[in-house]
Amino acid sequence: MATMESLIGLVNRIQRACTVLGDHGGEGMSLWEALPSVAVVGGQSSGKSSVLESVVGRDFLPRGSGIVTRRPLVLQLHKTEEGKSEYAEFLHTPKKKFTDFALVRKEIQDETDRITGKTKHISNIPIHLSIYSPNVVNLTLIDLPGLTKVAVEGQPDSIVEDIENMVRSYVEKPNCIILAISPANQDIATSDAIKLAREVDPSGERTFGVLTKLDLMDKGTNALDVLEGRSYRLQHPWVGIVNRSQADINKNVDMIAARRREREYFQSSSEYGHLAHKMGSEYLAKLLSQHLEAVIRQRIPSITALINKAVDELDAELDRLGRPIGTEGGAQLYTILEMCRAFDRIFREHLDGGRPGGDR
Ligand code: GDP
Ligand code: NA
Ligand code: MG
Repeated sequence: MATMESLIGLVNRIQRACTVLGDHGGEGMSLWEALPSVAVVGGQSSGKSSVLESVVGRDFLPRGSGIVTRRPLVLQLHKTEEGKSEYAEFLHTPKKKFTDFALVRKEIQDETDRITGKTKHISNIPIHLSIYSPNVVNLTLIDLPGLTKVAVEGQPDSIVEDIENMVRSYVEKPNCIILAISPANQDIATSDAIKLAREVDPSGERTFGVLTKLDLMDKGTNALDVLEGRSYRLQHPWVGIVNRSQADINKNVDMIAARRREREYFQSSSEYGHLAHKMGSEYLAKLLSQHLEAVIRQRIPSITALINKAVDELDAELDRLGRPIGTEGGAQLYTILEMCRAFDRIFREHLDGGRPGGDR
């Protein structure tokens, strides 16, 4: 029987297949929407990109002050065997394997500009990126533009609302797990992430609260009220994070060193020491992956139903094209159809014989 790890891997592959098929989760209930993913939400410069990079363990996201993320980035992490080398692949350049992550960053920038130009405008059209690495957990993460309060020079007045609507269109889906990022050096009551999360997920069952910039709090203050759930209660525990500062980034402090420093920060902290084992980027990555597995397991019946529907639609489409398959498009449909059937079999196996609680 396939392990739980590979179950998330399967869902990743279905999501890719859906994307190839043109199912971006647009209208109606699509297979893509039925599959859970994690969206990163927060105000500009709250640390969203930094958290994503820490979870992945690589530097690859464009960053800077102001609006940097201008298109949704759908990031699929695929865990590969120990010893295999890391690489990245974009859906829009399927034949190209990136091993230099600085070039991944450049391609995200270029591909953003291809749609929006070198402006401060945003676009709803997502960029799809897959990272294959032995050092990641299987996870689909979506980076979104940061929520803002005012339009800046060169932006239409509607930008504030446009960004909020775009972010909302992701987080309002019942299958979206919300990674709500708030900086610890601002009052939690003013957090854009929590405001939106509370609106779309009032019970807090699919929201993970992440508190960044713990190292930047005023001397003599701490974030225990938030981290221990007294300020704003969620169903899941809050996770505190210490990302790299801008000075660290300028000095090229690498990810491994940053993760080690983050660990040391919590272990040696007089305030957070007792929470050290539940804090930090690595813990957050594990927590999310475990949660995603549990959610997928719950959703297997509805995913199976949607796969069957997709199989029927593909069958009809193939009939329309006429068999045997002549065109390239037809051959692609046929491959996807076969894949869906295989997924359906495997999901059924998990449903019938899967042990709850995971087997790792
Ligand atoms: P985004 O706009 O939400 O994606 O935020 P970024 O991840 O780009 O971070 C914005 C700035 O805050 C960058 O200069 C980061 O180095 C800095 N930053 C983010 N998280 C932390 C943190 O935990 N501690 C410190 N000291 N700086 C941070
Ligand atoms: Na930013
Ligand atoms: Mg960003």
